[in-house]
Amino acid sequence: MTNSTPRKLRSQLWFDNPDNPGMTALYLERYHNFGLTREELQSGKPIIGIAQTGSDLSPCNRHHIVLAERVREGIRTQGGIAFEFPVHPIQETGKRPTAALDRNLAYLGLVEVLFGYPLDGVVLTTGCDKTTPACIMAAATVNIPAIVLSGGPMLNGWYKGERTGSGTVVWKAREQLAAGEIDYEGFIEIVASSAPSVGHCNTMGTATTMNSLAEALGMSLPGCAAIPAPYRERAQIAYETGRRIVDMVWEDLKPSDILTREAFENAIAVNSAIGGSTNAPIHLNAIARHIGVELDNDDWQRVGHDVLLLVNLQPAGAYLGEEFHRAGGVPAVVNELIKAGKVSDRAMTVNRQTLVENCHGREIEDHDVIRPYDDPLVPNAGFINLKGNLFDSAIMKTSVISDEFRQRYLSNPDDPNAFEGRAIVFDGPEDYHHRINDPALEIDEHCLLFVRGTGPIGYPGGAEVVNMQPPDHLIKRGILSLPCIGDGRQSGTSGSPSILNASPEAAASGGLAVLQTNDKVRIDLNRGEANILIDDAELEERFRVLAEKGGFPIPEHQTPWQEIQRDMVAQFDEGMVLKPAIKYQRVAQG
Ligand code: FES
Ligand code: MG
Repeated sequence: MTNSTPRKLRSQLWFDNPDNPGMTALYLERYHNFGLTREELQSGKPIIGIAQTGSDLSPCNRHHIVLAERVREGIRTQGGIAFEFPVHPIQETGKRPTAALDRNLAYLGLVEVLFGYPLDGVVLTTGCDKTTPACIMAAATVNIPAIVLSGGPMLNGWYKGERTGSGTVVWKAREQLAAGEIDYEGFIEIVASSAPSVGHCNTMGTATTMNSLAEALGMSLPGCAAIPAPYRERAQIAYETGRRIVDMVWEDLKPSDILTREAFENAIAVNSAIGGSTNAPIHLNAIARHIGVELDNDDWQRVGHDVLLLVNLQPAGAYLGEEFHRAGGVPAVVNELIKAGKVSDRAMTVNRQTLVENCHGREIEDHDVIRPYDDPLVPNAGFINLKGNLFDSAIMKTSVISDEFRQRYLSNPDDPNAFEGRAIVFDGPEDYHHRINDPALEIDEHCLLFVRGTGPIGYPGGAEVVNMQPPDHLIKRGILSLPCIGDGRQSGTSGSPSILNASPEAAASGGLAVLQTNDKVRIDLNRGEANILIDDAELEERFRVLAEKGGFPIPEHQTPWQEIQRDMVAQFDEGMVLKPAIKYQRVAQG
């Protein structure tokens, strides 16, 4: 396509609107004041937003401030005009009480900008965990041409000859500190070694997961997700991304053309193969809702559970972002999935080719880092969706359950997939830290640890606290983990076997709200069930008492946004979206 196509662009409503010459003059006047000319604004060139997520407050995405220069040059080369503007920061490690609180706020802000300003298309700069879904959700709602530019992971971290991966090294170094093997200075030194350059987390945490899924959805140029932030290819793909969005505007290639059911199913398969974060179902289900595709955790189990783990990255594996890129990144993973028949060939991407056309023949460059489909790291790498009187939906990665683990909780030797244990219940992370070593709880290796009050309403935005360490006396005996279940989330950089994202949460009167310490709980993986073993009358009575007390207590709101979001937020299984926002989806084409 060329930019000679005689089509009136959206931005001309502002800058070239004969029906309203007065307003046109006003719009032009102010956008002149930093040097843009009338010719640039009125000649019908596409005006392209660069949604800037980087700032000093957002170090994971800060490199986008530099990359935006290459994006601008790409836009200019292709005949467009670039307008860069800020997106509300979402820094995973810096925002209190939790960065997840701000995903929907950044979404709302970006929707207003994309809708209310003279933009014909937008480059979404993504990186840190929630920046990727927030940007794609907004583009889905407004449905103007949009392309993702990932910022890329940091270089590999190294300490004394070993790779130190973002997040993952913190869990390990904390254990060494607790065991007295290192002092606090040593602890900081090890943790700092995992962040050697600009970029986002270099492990397969939520950032690399969501950027890989953005690519699998077809929202970025092929190969974009894995390129490390400081590499020259990163600046080169920034330039190509800028060029491409201009043509996408002329082609009127919109998110609704790309974010189809087939695209979401492709992304779910890729999530299993890369060993993606347990936060991915929340964010992908949210994007789907904003584009009008029905997607739930049953789809995740149906499409994703039996897909094999191919990518050997920390926390599940050995390597980090640089090796993932050199081994072929997302295109090499998709190519393996194509051979296994796990990819739909109907999903269009931003370059107007299908995902299959983009990735077919992109062979793996390093078989240690990305395994071929016939030699995987583990089978059944996806999630199952558990239901019962504890919750309507919660996800679990079954591939991390060890044999030793199975034996400990087996209720019937003939049924290796059903487990029973005594529940120990904590009301939030503070209560857990306060009481985990309380001898009165009599925690042994047959207990299940529960944490509640940590969902989208209870701990506004949902806390990453479900992976809990056993009490010290068990750790000393070599019991390093107990099954953990909760209505919160788990860091994508942690590899614990947990049942997560339970919906509805306790604060929305889900079954966790009436669970009591010492209740017996049964998890049946074959049936996909999780139940408190009490009779219906007793359960009903507990819910009656809960309602009488006015429901599960939630902490005070600390900011206006916490209160606003709590009033309208959906549960994790529905993507934690703002419920009133869903009806604004623009489904232009089928
Ligand atoms: Fe920002 Fe991990 S903390 S990407
Ligand atoms: Mg995280």
